[in-house]
Amino acid sequence: NCPSDISDHERIDCHPDSGSTEDSCIKRGCHWCTSSIQDVPWCFAPKTTGYTLVGDVTQTAKGYTATLDRKPTSSWYGHDIARIQMDVEFQTNSRLRIKIFDPSVARFEVPLNISSTSAALDPLYSVEFSNSPAFNIKVKRASNGATLFDTSLGGLVFSEQFLQFATKLNSHNVYGFGEHEHHSLKHDMNWKSWGMYARDQPVTHGANLYGVHPFYMNVETSNLAHGVLVLNSNAQDVTLSPLPSLKYRTIGGILDIYMFLGPSPENVVQQYTQAIGRPVMPPYWALGFHLSRYGYNDIQTLKDTVNRMRAFNIPHDVQHGDIDMMDRRLDFTYDPVNFTGLPQYVRDLKNEGTRWISIQDPCISIGEPAGTYRPFDLGQSMDVWVKESDGVTNAEGRVWPDANVYFPDYSSTSCQSWWKQMSIEFHSTIEYDGMWIDMNEPASFVTGSVKGCYYNQWNNPLYKPRVYGDVLADKTLCGDYLQSFGSHYNTHNLFGWSQSPVTQEAVQEVTGKRSIVLSRSTFPGSGSTSVHWLGDNHSLWSNLHYSIIGSLEFNLFGIPFVGPDICGFGGHTTEEMCQRWMQLGAFYPFSRNHNGLGWREQDPGILGAEVARVSRESLEIRYTILPYMYTLFHHAHIDGSTVMRPLFHEFVTDTATHAIDRQFLLGPAFLVSAVLNEGKTSVSAYIPDARWYDWYTGAEVSNSLRKSWTTLPAPLDFIPLHVRGGYILPTQQPANSTMFSRLNNLGLIVALDDNEEASGDLFWDEGDTKDSFENGEFDTVEYTAVPGILTGITSNLGYAGLFGMEYETVRVMGLAHYLDITDVRVNNQQHNLFTFTSSTGVLDIVNLTLPAHEDFSITWT
Ligand code: GLC
Repeated sequence: NCPSDISDHERIDCHPDSGSTEDSCIKRGCHWCTSSIQDVPWCFAPKTTGYTLVGDVTQTAKGYTATLDRKPTSSWYGHDIARIQMDVEFQTNSRLRIKIFDPSVARFEVPLNISSTSAALDPLYSVEFSNSPAFNIKVKRASNGATLFDTSLGGLVFSEQFLQFATKLNSHNVYGFGEHEHHSLKHDMNWKSWGMYARDQPVTHGANLYGVHPFYMNVETSNLAHGVLVLNSNAQDVTLSPLPSLKYRTIGGILDIYMFLGPSPENVVQQYTQAIGRPVMPPYWALGFHLSRYGYNDIQTLKDTVNRMRAFNIPHDVQHGDIDMMDRRLDFTYDPVNFTGLPQYVRDLKNEGTRWISIQDPCISIGEPAGTYRPFDLGQSMDVWVKESDGVTNAEGRVWPDANVYFPDYSSTSCQSWWKQMSIEFHSTIEYDGMWIDMNEPASFVTGSVKGCYYNQWNNPLYKPRVYGDVLADKTLCGDYLQSFGSHYNTHNLFGWSQSPVTQEAVQEVTGKRSIVLSRSTFPGSGSTSVHWLGDNHSLWSNLHYSIIGSLEFNLFGIPFVGPDICGFGGHTTEEMCQRWMQLGAFYPFSRNHNGLGWREQDPGILGAEVARVSRESLEIRYTILPYMYTLFHHAHIDGSTVMRPLFHEFVTDTATHAIDRQFLLGPAFLVSAVLNEGKTSVSAYIPDARWYDWYTGAEVSNSLRKSWTTLPAPLDFIPLHVRGGYILPTQQPANSTMFSRLNNLGLIVALDDNEEASGDLFWDEGDTKDSFENGEFDTVEYTAVPGILTGITSNLGYAGLFGMEYETVRVMGLAHYLDITDVRVNNQQHNLFTFTSSTGVLDIVNLTLPAHEDFSITWT
């Protein structure tokens, strides 16, 4: 007797754990009905699964509250909470919170405070409640009445170790959830499930990777967008199905749901980062090119590699030092034998304009003789370690060092002081500029600990979300281990998140500068103190495409400074792949070539003169637009905008853009259409609805191609790049390091729109002063173009770094309707050094000596 009122796609899995049979299904009080559709659950919940309202929904100062009693149905995983509470808070006009919790027993809540003082007065949303067939809530968009969130499908479960809600979605355009290797930016809604539990896992499709981001964006059928965060740090998973709907399951904490009403995709990210913390402002040098590998193995190999960078004059702002530079892979050491002279070499590099980033892993070896290894000795005396379930014994695992290790509990204040102290002391050995914190899922090479884990409800919950490993402790610690802020069961996903802030503090304190902390494991809010790379990817062509998806997703997650290991971490790359990847990689927000142990060398200088040339030329374009990119990061830091942006963020009403994930934008205006496949010398590219100009020639893309796909030629040494009409990009002459490029002259690229107008801005500061914006130590310039006139208006000048700098070139694109340009005036003075190419409509004004700190105007007729 299959219910006729539940269609296949409306089903809510009643047996998300494996081994479902008709018998076990019926025992749970659920329906057992086959389906011909792949992955549709055969065991599914009756519509009445859930809670019923006690009394009325009542109004509160900030919204509503409802007391709910569980409907008398069979239990799925036991320990159901009979009475729960739902608080609905109208936090801001664009942010709504729905908090479902146990009013009588405190449960774990993520220590990230997203609150508001009073109720929003003019919200973009409204809510409706219904008690049939079980209690449910609908959230609607006030402007058009569209339903954005709707739990009327049923399926609300709130038990001790299994919590679930299901919601219908407004459309199939769903983005986000992480961290995974997704093969499309826009989710496949065909009953796909994604587990979320921080894991040391080489990048694999379907696996839960290093960080956890229970956040998605939905572009509605009206092309307005909203985002939803489920603030929960337990092991969890989500299933996306074509109704469209999603089912969210977690095994602890509470259901703490935040909605961000947009209405544009960028607004969603801005509102999301306002709630969880704005992205950290990276220092200018971090926007340069980074080089790294695991396994230089000796200092001569490192030097040879660096020398190749110099020989080919390839930009090289940052060199990373991996664990092979440590003494026997011990944190806060360097190998005095194979890397003799490393401290001095790091200083030498810095004088040449190349900064240093050191890796540190959380695991601390316990195998060194007492009194010989300060990180352990001091940690021991300050008692900084994660504990076993008895709260006393230190959790002992195995990671890189030759001996067993303890794990720092970064949520404890003593650990924070110890970690800071060690980071600060290490700086007197290696004068690093930034810190790379790896293995902080936390990773362990043994399951749970060297002793394993007890068999109990925390280590072996009845429902294990769809994550890799037979048990949750696979490759990490036991769930019943204890940290200051809670059990590992509840806080596992917060390990990297809790390590980043203190690392950022330490690095800032010891360098006295703004820095970067590069963290492998992240969680909502991590972006305010750390940046991210996409982990152990592969030297495979497919990974070029996936790297764009992953980087775009982290921009959505509020961590815009992100990129993959260029040329791949695992596996041998090829010349062609690495050349293509260096071209693409020049435009990731975080541009780093990193390689794994034992694989063929892949620094841009080793693969032949051609790879070196193409790498240098691509990076020189990056360095040319760094003032633009840096300004984008400023906006990310201040307004929460993305830096690397999917096309649909700018052209959302054009539904053809919604699924584009092979091209991307930097900010609103710089379009990258890289070759992502082997043997290809052209790219199929979408031309969104705007004027576009070829980066190299300034020629306009034919108007007839707007809103259509076209084939762009892309020989092996060429990456198609376009600038969008309506924008002005500040540029600077490149150099092989930002230390030098920052001394060079500026330029402007003025890309006119249909009205012959454009605008843009520049944020300029010392590059690595702490809190430069917050302290007013910056300069800004606003650029505006109207027909025939370009102006620059400076403001603030609190840094005054623009004094002494000059604009040397201005390129204006989009003047093809002029027969000729005969007169160019700069601040009303005739300027004769310009060329106008009427066939392309490009006006190049050169040899300017325009002071950058002054307002200016340039006219052309
Ligand atoms: C991990 C990191 C990788 C690093 C290696 C050695 O696999 O993800 O980037 O090179 O450890 O430290």
